[in-house]
Amino acid sequence: MRQKVQLGLAVTLISAAMPAFAANPVNQGNDAWVEMQQRVEQAMPPEANPGAFTIDDGKALFFKKAGPNNKDLSTCDFGLGPGVVKDAYAQLPRYFPDTGRVETLEGRLLTCMEKIQGFTPEQVKEKFLMPMYKTSGEEDGTGSDLVRLTTYIAAQSNGEPFKIKLDNAEEKKSYHLGEYMFFHRWGEMDLNCATCHAYNERTVRGVPLPNLLDTHTAGKIAAAFPAYVIKDGTMRTQWWRNERCVMAMRLPWIETGSPLDAALTLFLRIQATKSDVKINIPGVKPRA
Ligand code: HEC
Repeated sequence: MRQKVQLGLAVTLISAAMPAFAANPVNQGNDAWVEMQQRVEQAMPPEANPGAFTIDDGKALFFKKAGPNNKDLSTCDFGLGPGVVKDAYAQLPRYFPDTGRVETLEGRLLTCMEKIQGFTPEQVKEKFLMPMYKTSGEEDGTGSDLVRLTTYIAAQSNGEPFKIKLDNAEEKKSYHLGEYMFFHRWGEMDLNCATCHAYNERTVRGVPLPNLLDTHTAGKIAAAFPAYVIKDGTMRTQWWRNERCVMAMRLPWIETGSPLDAALTLFLRIQATKSDVKINIPGVKPRA
């Protein structure tokens, strides 16, 4: 009898501690987040989304000659061969043999600015990274060229689901690093991403939190970025979205295109790959 009670208690405690896993609500959950997102999408349907202009701005930049070599970016290889942009974002981040690194779309653009346009790493940082960092604060609608370029290339995968294969040892390593970053408790507040994003129906200050381990939800989010953020009045990328939470956790800045950025992005996009949600850029987000 006592054993039975103890066993019952243990099960109750474990279930209470891990509601998302105990209930196993794969592909059903976080109704509050889904409802909120639906309301925002109804309020700003695709034809009213100002982010669409960013696609054209990015295209113009992509074909504009620049840098010491006076070249445009149209021969950049995003993983499917030089110049192929269609469908490339749906398969990024991926491993690139020429750099020996797993790269995100933004990271690959920075690589091509060096390799094709001839900018030095310092120039790339000053001309492209710093402007994006400086304009990533709340309600700063200035935008940046790196975001514009990212939006143009990403939109060339519209209508396709994420389909990342993880068929390379470096990609697997990067994925596991991303998984570690998601579940490891960091910093003075002892938080991990899972504290806020591994449960259904969790809220913080009235804001519904998406369960990023629910593959459909992860798919909806990955497929929406770069997204138009209404509060800021500008387009924001997946790096920016992750960085917002990294900052809130009081952790060191994650550099765009760095191995840590690639790993966290890859982990989230593998969740998205398990769903069949199709990429639909520009997405729309209310605040963040
Ligand atoms: C203390 C809670 C908290 C932690 C920890 C946290 N986040 Fe968040 N996250 C939020 C909140 C709140 C929002 C929603 C912001 C909004 O809608 O205004 C959010 C939103 C997001 C979104 C976008 C959701 C959407 O609707 O598009 C992503 C992606 C995300 N977080 C990733 C992460 C990652 C990766 C980590 C770990 C590095 C993390 N978060 C850690 C609170 C947290």
